[in-house]
Amino acid sequence: MADTAPEHPGPPKARVAIFISGTGTNMAALLYASRLPGAAYEVVLVASNQPAATGLALAQSEGIATFSQPHKGMDRAAHDQVMEAAAIRARADYIILAGYMRILSDEFVRRWHGRMLNIHPSLLPKYRGLDTYQRAIDAGDETAGATVHLVSTELDAGEILGQIAVTVQPGDSADSLARRIRIAEHQLYPQIVARYVARQYDAGWLLAQIRRMALQMPETEERESHGAPAWRTGGKSGKYFAHFADRHHGVPHVALLVKTGGQDELGALIDNDPDAFFRPAYYGASGWVGIILNRPGLDWDQVTYWLQRSWQSAAPKRLSRLFAAASEF
Ligand code: GRF
Repeated sequence: MADTAPEHPGPPKARVAIFISGTGTNMAALLYASRLPGAAYEVVLVASNQPAATGLALAQSEGIATFSQPHKGMDRAAHDQVMEAAAIRARADYIILAGYMRILSDEFVRRWHGRMLNIHPSLLPKYRGLDTYQRAIDAGDETAGATVHLVSTELDAGEILGQIAVTVQPGDSADSLARRIRIAEHQLYPQIVARYVARQYDAGWLLAQIRRMALQMPETEERESHGAPAWRTGGKSGKYFAHFADRHHGVPHVALLVKTGGQDELGALIDNDPDAFFRPAYYGASGWVGIILNRPGLDWDQVTYWLQRSWQSAAPKRLSRLFAAASEF
C-alpha cells in the first residue's frame, strides 16, 4: 500500500564544515552518517591546511565542496581567517575539527564558541596533547578511548560532550591501540555531532535553558502549574511570570509563555512575527503570549527580554522597583 501520510519535513539540517589535515577517516565517518535517513546535519565543506590531504580527495569524489590553504609563510591568525572565511562562505553553522593539526588563535576560537567541536584520542581530562596512546600504555591504563569536546582557548580542555572507552590489550603498541580507537571514534563522532546540533529542538535542553534564566530573576521559584514547569515570584502569595509548554493542546511548539501588556500587544506580536509568537490555549485569553523555542534562529535576547518584562509585571512593587533601578546601571 502506498504511504499517503504527508511527509513531515522535521527541523532543518545544521550545516557543518569539517577541517582536516590528514587521512580524514573521521570526516568520512561524519559524511557517510549524514547520508542516513533523518540525519541532523549536512556537510557543506571539507577544508584543510594540507592541499594533499587524502581526505580532501575523498570529499571531492563524494561531491562535497572542498577548500585548502597551506599555512606555510602565514601567521596563525591570518591563516585562521582564511579558513574561517571559507566556512562562512559555505554558510556553515558549525566547524567540526577532525584531525586538524593546527593550534587555533584565541580570537577564532572565541568567535566560534559553542559552535566548534573536536575529537581527541584519549579519555580527557587524561592525556591532553600528543602521544596519547603511548602515554596510556606506559601508565598501565586498562582503558583508553576518545573524547568529543567543545573547542575552548585552552588546548583539549573545552566542555566534554561525549566519550567512548576502548580496552588496552596485553601487548598493544601505540599503533594497534590507535587503530581500535580510530574505529571507536567513527562511532562516537557522528552520534555526538548529531545530538549536539539537534539540541536546539530538544524539549529537555530548552527547558534547562529557560529554567536557568528564570531562576536568575530575584525571588523566583519553580512550581508546577497544570502539570508543566512554571516560575513565580513574590513568595507564598506570589504570581506566575513564565510557563513552559511542551507541545500542549495539539500545537507542535515547545514554548515559553509570558505575560504581555494585553490583547492589543499580543495580537500585534503575532501579526508581526507569526513564526516566533502564537496565542496559547487558555492563557491567550488573559494576555499571555507563546514564544516558540524549537525553531531555527531563535533569538535568546528576545527570550531574556520577555522573561524580564513578564517577571516585572508579576513581581511585587518592592522587588520590581529594585530591579528597575539596578538595570539602569
Ligand atoms: C584522530 O585520532 C583524532 O582523534 C585526532 O586526529 C586523528 C584524526 O584521524 N584528533 P583521521 O584523519 O580522522 O583519520
